Amino acid sequence: MRRWLLAAAVVAVAAVVGPVKAQQPIIIKFSHVVSPDAPKGKAAIRFKELAEKYTNGKVKVEVYPNSSLYKDKEELEALQLGSVQILAPSISKFGPLGVKEFDVFDLPFLMSDDARARQMYASPLMTELNKKLVAKDVEPLAYWDNGAHVYTCNKPLIMPDDFKGLKMRIQGSKVLDAVARELGAIPQIMAFSELYQALQTGVVDGEDNVPSNILTQKFYEVQKNLTVSYHGRLTYALITNAKFWDGLPEDVRTPLTRAVHETTDFFNETAAKDNADALEKIKASGRIQVHLLTDEEKKAWVAKLMPVHQEMQKRFGKDFIEKIYKASGFTPPES
Ligand code: LMR
Repeated sequence: MRRWLLAAAVVAVAAVVGPVKAQQPIIIKFSHVVSPDAPKGKAAIRFKELAEKYTNGKVKVEVYPNSSLYKDKEELEALQLGSVQILAPSISKFGPLGVKEFDVFDLPFLMSDDARARQMYASPLMTELNKKLVAKDVEPLAYWDNGAHVYTCNKPLIMPDDFKGLKMRIQGSKVLDAVARELGAIPQIMAFSELYQALQTGVVDGEDNVPSNILTQKFYEVQKNLTVSYHGRLTYALITNAKFWDGLPEDVRTPLTRAVHETTDFFNETAAKDNADALEKIKASGRIQVHLLTDEEKKAWVAKLMPVHQEMQKRFGKDFIEKIYKASGFTPPES
């Protein structure tokens, strides 16, 4: 009798545990550092909606904006450890992963055209670079190009000499470090979450970013000048933990892949307009002086920064840089 009862209990427990386990939604934590109103913030929400819809509730996506779960550097470590499942960091922050090649996209004035940049990030050129990420347990799902950078500072930045002696916040990339040094500035790597306070208190004099971040983080309220220089770009890689992704059942991974593609389309359709609108709102606030570089001034900036391209041949190899020039449409100016 006791043996029968025990067997019945085992069957009953299995009956309960089995289906409950199968019904449990898979939790995907999506952590990022920007405002929910910035292009990446909006895309994260869109991804959540699509992922939950297409997986019929098998997946639940929790979005953590504004560095509320992890800051820049921590989030990459957390992804590799499996504590978070999706991130969309700027590719200028991949150095600490031990993948230096992504810094090449920070070469000054490399890409001036949104469509061309997107084409490049979707091209086979990225295949080799993607393999380097996978070797670090990081699976790239898509690239989201958020457009061109402008500078903000407490001093007008019109000619390259204006940067002399200024403390400028940079993302982690070695190319961005070289750019700041070439301009005579003092580069300071800093997490995005710390930037507002650093600008407000004068820990740094300036930074570069896209207008949508400058608006949604209110940097324009604590900076006196903005220069529309479009000297660099902000590109995100939508990444996941490779083991997590590979371990997903097919009937979950396929709809999630669909959600990724549609979110990427959404990002591409909205980011450029969001950044253009943000620049107009910043101007209209009247709180910051906005200067658009003239062709002459831009020429001087390009000439000043070309030595960074040459210096970086040592780091990346001339062939690789020339491949990137071809893909991005960059022609070095005649010297
Ligand atoms: C920055 O750190 O300046 C940006 O990359 C933040 C972001 O993710 O847009």
